[in-house]
Amino acid sequence: MSFAALRASLHRAAAPAPAAFRRSAVRSSVRRYSTEPPTPTPAPKSSTALYAGLGAAALGGVAFWVFTSQGDSAKTIAKSGIQGAKAAAKFTPTKEDYIKIYNKVAEVMDEAADKDYDDGSYGPIFLRLGWHSSGTFDKESGTGGSNYATMRFAPESQHGANNGLHVARELMEEIHKEFPWVSYGDLWTLGAVTAIQEMGGPHVPWRPGRIDGVAAQATPDGRLPDGAKGADHLRAVFGRMGFDDREIVALSGGHAVGRCHRDRSGWDGPWTFSPATVSNSFFKLLFDETWVWKKWDGPRQLEDKGTRSLMMLPTDYVLVQDKSFKKWARAYADDEELFFKDFAGVCVKLFENGVPAHQWVTSEPWIMPTTEEQKEAKSS
Ligand code: HEM
Repeated sequence: MSFAALRASLHRAAAPAPAAFRRSAVRSSVRRYSTEPPTPTPAPKSSTALYAGLGAAALGGVAFWVFTSQGDSAKTIAKSGIQGAKAAAKFTPTKEDYIKIYNKVAEVMDEAADKDYDDGSYGPIFLRLGWHSSGTFDKESGTGGSNYATMRFAPESQHGANNGLHVARELMEEIHKEFPWVSYGDLWTLGAVTAIQEMGGPHVPWRPGRIDGVAAQATPDGRLPDGAKGADHLRAVFGRMGFDDREIVALSGGHAVGRCHRDRSGWDGPWTFSPATVSNSFFKLLFDETWVWKKWDGPRQLEDKGTRSLMMLPTDYVLVQDKSFKKWARAYADDEELFFKDFAGVCVKLFENGVPAHQWVTSEPWIMPTTEEQKEAKSS
C-alpha cells in the first residue's frame, strides 16, 4: 500500500477500538472526500507579481528592522530578510513551487507512522502550529497573526499555550532548509492547510505573502484560549480575532484530530476515535456520548462514560451548554458538508488575519491540489 493511501485516516468508528487500533487503522484506511475535488486553479501566467511581492516583502522586513530594533534576534532576521531578497532576485517561486512544499509537508506528516508518534501523523500538530501562530491576532491593534511567525522567538515560543509546538517547529525547520526562500509564516500556514487537506478535510484556499518579522513583534502571553475556561472567555479571545459564535464553533471542530498530552498541556487523550481524520465526529460525539468529569489528579476534563478513552476540555463542552454555540454544534453534528464548508472558510480567515493586503502575491487564494489529486491528474 502506498504511503499516500496510508496517510489518510482513521475512519469514523462507531464503536471504540482497543489501544492498538490507532496504528493499524491508519495503515488500513483510505482517503475520503466529502465533496468532489475542485479543479486546481492554474498557476499565474506571469509570476512578476509574486516576484515583486516577495522582494518587497523581504526588503520590507529589513526596513522594519532598521527602524525599530537593534537586538540580536532582529539582526538575525534582518540577515534572513536580505537573504530572502537575494533569493527573490534569482528565483521566482510559482504556485508549482509552493505545491512542492505542500508535498514535502505531506511526506513528513507520514513519517510519524514510522516513528510511532501519537496516532501515526504529524498532521494534528502541524494544524495546531498554524492555528497558534495565527490565533494571536488582535483586530484592534492589528498586531499578531501569522504574518511575522513570531513564535520562533522566546518568550512567545515558551508561552504555556505553545507547549509541545517545538516538535512541529523543528520539523518545519527541516523543511525550510530545503525551501529557504519561503517565509516561516507562509510555511506554517501552508503546513496547516496541507494537514487539513491530507487528513481528508476540505480544501482550504491559501496564498503566499507573509514575511519574517523580528522578536520585537512577538505577542504578549494570554492571547490564545485557555481550555479550563467558559463561554465568556471563548467569546473574548475569539472576538478579539474577529470571530463570531458560528465561527468559534466551526474552528473548534479542529479538535476532530489530535490529542492532548499530559506533558504539554496537562490534559490527556484524544477527542475522537479517528484522531488523524478531519471529520465532524467531534460534534457528533459531543451529542452522542454521555460526558462525565474525569476523576484524576490532572486538570478538569471530561471523559466519555462508555469507553473512558475520549476526552473533552471544559471549553469543548461549553459548545453544547451555551445555547448559541449549541445551535451551531448541532448543525455541524448533523451535516458534515456544512461543517467542512464553514471550517474551510474560518481557516482561511484565521490564517490570513493580520496580513496586510498589499503583501499578498495573488488577489485570490489558490486551491492547493491534494497529493491524491495530483496523482490522478498525472495518470489521466
Ligand atoms: C476553542 C479554544 C481552544 C482551546 C482551549 C484549545 C486547547 C487545546 C489544548 C489544551 C490542546 C492540547 C495540547 C497538547 O497537550 O498537546 C489542543 C490541541 C489541539 N488543538 Fe486546540 N484549542 C482550541 C482551539 C483550537 C482550534 C481553533 C484549532 C484548529 C482549528 C485547534 C486545533 C488543535 C489540534 C489539531 C490539537 C492537537 C495537537 C496534537 O495532537 O498535538 N484547537 N488544543
